[in-house]
Amino acid sequence: MTVLLALETSCDETACAVVEDGRKILSNIVSSQIDVHTLYGGVVPEVASRIHVENISAVITEALIKAEVTMADIDAIAYTRGPGLIGSLHVGVQAAKTLAWSFGKKMLPIHHLAGHIYANAFVTDLEFPLLALVVSGGHTELVWMASDWDFKIIGSTADDAIGEAYDKVARVLGWGYPGGPVIDKMARTGTPSYPLPVPKTSGPYDFSFSGLKTAVIQLVAREEKAGREIRPADLAASFQETALNSMVRKTVQAARQYQPKMLVLAGGVAANSRLRTLITEQMQACPGVQVVIPPLWCCTDNAAMIGAAGYVAYQHQLFGGFDLAADCSLEMPGEAVLEAR
Ligand code: KG4
Ligand code: ZN
Repeated sequence: MTVLLALETSCDETACAVVEDGRKILSNIVSSQIDVHTLYGGVVPEVASRIHVENISAVITEALIKAEVTMADIDAIAYTRGPGLIGSLHVGVQAAKTLAWSFGKKMLPIHHLAGHIYANAFVTDLEFPLLALVVSGGHTELVWMASDWDFKIIGSTADDAIGEAYDKVARVLGWGYPGGPVIDKMARTGTPSYPLPVPKTSGPYDFSFSGLKTAVIQLVAREEKAGREIRPADLAASFQETALNSMVRKTVQAARQYQPKMLVLAGGVAANSRLRTLITEQMQACPGVQVVIPPLWCCTDNAAMIGAAGYVAYQHQLFGGFDLAADCSLEMPGEAVLEAR
């Protein structure tokens, strides 16, 4: 039995979990800063790192108490090393090092997106080769995994991440932060009746969202100038359909070409109800591919997912030393990582 303490502080959630054998969640504490960042219409990095500093000890203590374990029961400490906001990451990395030093534990530095992908292991055993659509506030990536812990990015966004586009559109329209859940809800009662440009990209599996975001902002300005009232639900539906349709179409194309055993959704935007429906419907064109959609609680940032990925890293003995610092643009580990060992 392997019990990991996992830490996640890459953005605006201070999170700590205790996870047994990468599957059984003994505790999963997430302290969200949304209420504070809402005041500014988005995450303020300096404020985020300060709140992490204030909360991290209490969150760790609560995770241990809830799991009914002490540090003596912990085999290793998994933590998000990157990517993310540097100040935020730094707090989690220092907490991991402090615990590792004080209690003589090994550390497992984890890539944030590996966490999002391996969160799906809470749903079912992952089978490879696997294709992951990772969609969050910072990322929009198609990740091909020929085998366990081997991540190859085959498509990514040329500009904004999809979650970022949701957040920015919502901010401009005064719909609040984070924009994703608000637009998701509003779009349910709307009709996609506003014409918006379909994002253009160079690579077959690349994405783009900044042109769409700008088009929404320009449309609102035009309508206001013409004295016409915006229909918010229709605008939300129009933005959402345009953003999701081309992304889902490309994902299905990639699944057709690469023929994975599984297609997994990952990241905060995987909580989107329309995306979940679209991917399920359109993947019927690839009957041999199992579609895995994470439960809502593990789509957005949490530490249990770092524990799930940490367990795989633990099995491969991918420990990190005290020399490793937070890395805001950390690359995903490829095949070479395991081969080099
Ligand atoms: O994975 P996550 O918690 O943090 C990052 O790693 O970025 O993702 C947060 C992002 C935000 O942009 C938020 O607006 C988006 O996920 N999000 C959603 C929904 N719930 C959260 N986007 C669309 N629909 C949702 N229901
Ligand atoms: Zn995330």
